[in-house]
Amino acid sequence: MKVGVIGAGTMGSGIAQTFAQTDGYEVVLCDISERLAEGGKAKIAKGLNKKVAKGKMAQEAADAILGKITTGLMDKCADCDLIVEAAYEDLGVKHEMFKELDVICKPETIFASNTSSLSITEIGAGVNRPVIGMHFFNPAPVMKLIEVIAGLNTPDETVEKIKEISVSIGKTPVQVKEAAGFVVNRILIPMINEAVGIYADGVADVEGIDTAMKLGANHPMGPLALGDLVGLDICLAIMNVLYTETGDSKYRPHPLLRKMVRGGKLGQKTGEGFYKYN
Ligand code: 3HC
Repeated sequence: MKVGVIGAGTMGSGIAQTFAQTDGYEVVLCDISERLAEGGKAKIAKGLNKKVAKGKMAQEAADAILGKITTGLMDKCADCDLIVEAAYEDLGVKHEMFKELDVICKPETIFASNTSSLSITEIGAGVNRPVIGMHFFNPAPVMKLIEVIAGLNTPDETVEKIKEISVSIGKTPVQVKEAAGFVVNRILIPMINEAVGIYADGVADVEGIDTAMKLGANHPMGPLALGDLVGLDICLAIMNVLYTETGDSKYRPHPLLRKMVRGGKLGQKTGEGFYKYN
């Protein structure tokens, strides 16, 4: 099966790697420029090289995975069987991309979006085929869950097909109804937002908050480190969707979260968030 992954950022490259390392899949990793698409593949190569250096993967296996990933613009997706869109988290951007892909792709290509909180029905509006949510978690090659979200116009057979594909790449699908933030982000992102508030209130320092949640709640990483991993801009975008969709003040993004995003401190991807990165 040939999979077109749209968006070569953190999630897109992780999703591309996940498919490419499974037998029976090849990937076209796309972005708005050849350079960005190649950058995504370079990120994958870097991660695989680390595994080779640790002795956890043979060089040949890493080369074989990379050999299954081609890069380019969206027009390379004409013969893809599945599209997983992982572009910028903006309804207008996703909408336009699917409309364009509708013209580029063969009629039977399945359209899936990795949106983290937006309405699948709205993303699919005006597109001449159904769109489904296929929501991966960061880091995509490691995290086992895929939230499968049917929009109002997504047929059951598409839902079943995406569940089947999820299992084939070693993931566990959980079907969820369309709702802001679905299941995981509705719980996880307000927790990160709350941790930002705890820090802003001076209750504990960054390391203290993260250590407390690692040791006190057995989380694999603390909420502020997790915010840096996910991207503080993504956290803010999800809080904004939760807030505007529900109107509930409990989802109000913390002003410090807004300030960090305005200041370009987005986490790992910009080299600084609540922590500094090389
Ligand atoms: N890409 C690929 N593989 C990665 C990776 C990455 N970015 N980061 C870590 N890994 C791999 C490592 O190579 C290693 O594999 P190995 O066992 O074969 O060597 C394995 O994961 C474990 O990594 P480490 O030993 O370096 O570190 P940890 O054991 O501390 O695990 C972690 C790192 C998997 C990130 C773990 O801390 C974790 O599970 N954290 C929580 C992540 C989480 O909650 N994600 C969900 C975020 S919400 C989301 O994504 C939704 C979105 O819509 C916002």
